[in-house]
Amino acid sequence: MKSNKKMLVLPGDGIGPEVMVQVRRVIDWFDRRRAVKFDIQEGLVGGASYDKYGSPLTDNTLADAMAADAVLFGAVGGPQYDTLPFDKRPEKAILGLRKELGLFANLRPALVFDALVDASSLKPDIVRGLDILILRELTGGIYFGEPRGIEKLPDGQRRGVNTQVYTTHEIQRIARVGFDLAKKRKNKVCSVEKANVMESGQLWREEVTAVHKAEYPKVELSHMYADNCAMQLVRNPKQFDVIVTDNLFGDILSDCAAMLTGSLGMLPSASLGAVDKQGRQHALYEPIHGSAPDIVGKNMANPIAQLLSFAMLLRYSFDLEDDAKLIESSVEKVLAGGMRTADIMQPGAARVSTVVMGDAILRELDKQAA
Ligand code: IPM
Ligand code: MG
Repeated sequence: MKSNKKMLVLPGDGIGPEVMVQVRRVIDWFDRRRAVKFDIQEGLVGGASYDKYGSPLTDNTLADAMAADAVLFGAVGGPQYDTLPFDKRPEKAILGLRKELGLFANLRPALVFDALVDASSLKPDIVRGLDILILRELTGGIYFGEPRGIEKLPDGQRRGVNTQVYTTHEIQRIARVGFDLAKKRKNKVCSVEKANVMESGQLWREEVTAVHKAEYPKVELSHMYADNCAMQLVRNPKQFDVIVTDNLFGDILSDCAAMLTGSLGMLPSASLGAVDKQGRQHALYEPIHGSAPDIVGKNMANPIAQLLSFAMLLRYSFDLEDDAKLIESSVEKVLAGGMRTADIMQPGAARVSTVVMGDAILRELDKQAA
């Protein structure tokens, strides 16, 4: 029996709409060929929403996101919006969705495809077979902490203030997600903070240790300072399995981990909320790459990260593991066949456009499902 899954698609700005078109083709393919059916609604977000409605995230869009089973998000931002006040900026849309939907757990896998080992800026031996997961806390810490602002001092200077805060509850729930994920992987968690200089980091370490001891003693747990972690990620990334860390360190370390794989254009992410009493869980899926204003409209962008975000959506929101794998293996096949968008171009490979990459993946899906 086919059940209808409600998806909200928010392409956003920059290359978001271009790569989403390719994903929509794949979603149509699933609608036709597989057991599951999707109810899809599309909306504006970020700069696109600001241009039309004067706000990067309207109440309507937020309500649609609340009502959806999952949100597939493109990217937001662009240089034309850089001078707007914070609350009008495109980035406010993604921050607002994270906060309002309670998406506290951000999964950022960094996986090196065999075909792309040479695309990494690190030596092939260091990254071959790399498969790590950065788990970033997404609704707390310095991104949302109060007090914040820019104030005028009596002596005429100005002072900028942001606050790093974490409560035991926030730390414990992200730690549990980390341990649960590790159990399905290589059973290793590395918790990252700056307990040597920050009280919030000290609390982080104590709480993660307590959750480990009480609930997950069989998972291997280590602790690392964030600066050392940045260093270890480029020195020997394969030492890690799951890295669990706060909002700001997670932002930084996940960009670093993403680059190990050779292309930001390849990496998806999932942001998950808590499961409520009815068993519902808010979730949003987005590529890591952002809006890439420099290549907008050139039919050059790599649609794979957006597509792999859809695969994550199938896996985590709809429990469709086989369908997620079907997408992932089709992507691998196409890469193994030598097709590359500009961002992952290698000598001897065939450079293709966004649309041709989409065509190739659809052909591969046809083949694999035949
Ligand atoms: C990310 C981005 C966002 C963040 C921006 C766009 C607000 O860098 O998702 O990593 O800082 O969280
Ligand atoms: Mg970031």
